[in-house]
Amino acid sequence: MAKHLGIGLIGSGFNAKFHLLGFVGVRNADVLGVWSPNRKHAEETAALALALEVGEAKVYRSITEMVADPALDALWLCGPNYARVENVEEIVDAIARGRGTLKGVACEKPLARNLSEAKRVAELVQRAGLQNGYLENQVFAPAVATGREIIWARGASLTGRPYLARAAEEHSGPHKPWFWQGALQGGGVLNDMMCHSVLVVRHLLTKPGAPRSSLRPVRVSARIASLKWSRPEYAKRLSKIMGREVDYRKHPAEDFASLSIDFEADDGTLVLGEATTSWSFVGPGLRLSAELLGPEYSMSWNTLESGLKLFFSREVKGKLGEDLVEKQNAEMGQMPVVANEAAAYGYEAEDRHFVRAFLTGEKPALTFDDGLEVVKLLMTAYQSAEQGRTIDFPPKGLDGFIPAVARGTWKPQRP
Ligand SMILES: NC(=O)c1ccc[n+]([C@@H]2O[C@H](COP(=O)([O-])OP(=O)(O)OC[C@H]3O[C@@H](n4cnc5c(N)ncnc54)[C@H](O)[C@@H]3O)[C@@H](O)[C@H]2O)c1
Repeated sequence: MAKHLGIGLIGSGFNAKFHLLGFVGVRNADVLGVWSPNRKHAEETAALALALEVGEAKVYRSITEMVADPALDALWLCGPNYARVENVEEIVDAIARGRGTLKGVACEKPLARNLSEAKRVAELVQRAGLQNGYLENQVFAPAVATGREIIWARGASLTGRPYLARAAEEHSGPHKPWFWQGALQGGGVLNDMMCHSVLVVRHLLTKPGAPRSSLRPVRVSARIASLKWSRPEYAKRLSKIMGREVDYRKHPAEDFASLSIDFEADDGTLVLGEATTSWSFVGPGLRLSAELLGPEYSMSWNTLESGLKLFFSREVKGKLGEDLVEKQNAEMGQMPVVANEAAAYGYEAEDRHFVRAFLTGEKPALTFDDGLEVVKLLMTAYQSAEQGRTIDFPPKGLDGFIPAVARGTWKPQRP
């Protein structure tokens, strides 16, 4: 077994930086390459890799050049959703032309914008014979992993399986214009953030060690709404911050979504997963939460109940920042701080897991198949929201389905 995995990052934005922080806690990997269309940003990311001592990263001129370098064993796909297919196409084209010795590809959530794109991405990596990993950090978050392990080992083994899981991811809105544009991102907050919660509830309800198929989604019911950002004053403000191409008066995307999934467990019982996501949550910053409930036990997790709080009086008029918590909304008063966010949100354990799987050749805990299943559930949720009814899973006609939000034709529901 090789001792170290050489990693190349595709994309050098917000998420790539979180992975660099995650790699600080991974001993058998080196970040050796970065490619991003913006060379200056790629250089900054490579410099950060060096400063964090996670690898002597070079900036490459193309994905093809990264694939061709035998020093790189795996690529982490951290580009925008709209570039997923073209990024994977370039990787497999380079491999087909006999370049490099790439072993694996790990891809950020969501696997793609819709099911046909997700299928294309999954088929391409399979045909190229690449190991593949689906990067869903929240299932690796130490609190989620430990809570699930203990709940199942103590509570479920003595008193019966859990029957209800809840998860939520909420903040005040994404940092870059493309997230807000349905066509580029694939939808609104449902696509962007429900991908986490859908997998988290399923993961919590699945017995550790049991296959994904031991819990079968049978019905999906969802709703979407634009609660804040299509209000005229906020739509105007959004355009001012994000640019004229983000116009929620004409092309809104949902900033709130809720969903409920009925699962059939392998013992024939009905268990429920509930999820809520929001870009219209104003609190100290990003709030990730989850619950798992069973007949004689429960677990709960909330990242804003962090154990560390700082207080700043009104005399402390510092500059705006995200130094206390991701998507921070305030700098004054009593504020929670999430120490080592990359570890708390699961990036560190996630990166460690996929590095090990790629080095040993073992199948990772999450593959592109899991990412594909998440996209199927999200597209079913959009169908349910558009039709205003519960939908049996999997519905027919999911392949060619593009949510109205992504087509730019969605009209928020009026009272
Ligand atoms: N796991 C999480 O919680 C989490 C958090 C944030 C983002 N993400 C995911 O990570 C991905 C990147 O999001 P982000 O927040 O870093 O976005 P971002 O806009 O901050 O960064 C995107 C990066 O991709 C680069 N890029 C632009 N065009 C590209 C192309 N054609 N091919 C490859 N790269 C290109 C940009 O230059 C930039 O460096 C998205 O898929 C997003 O959904 C996941």
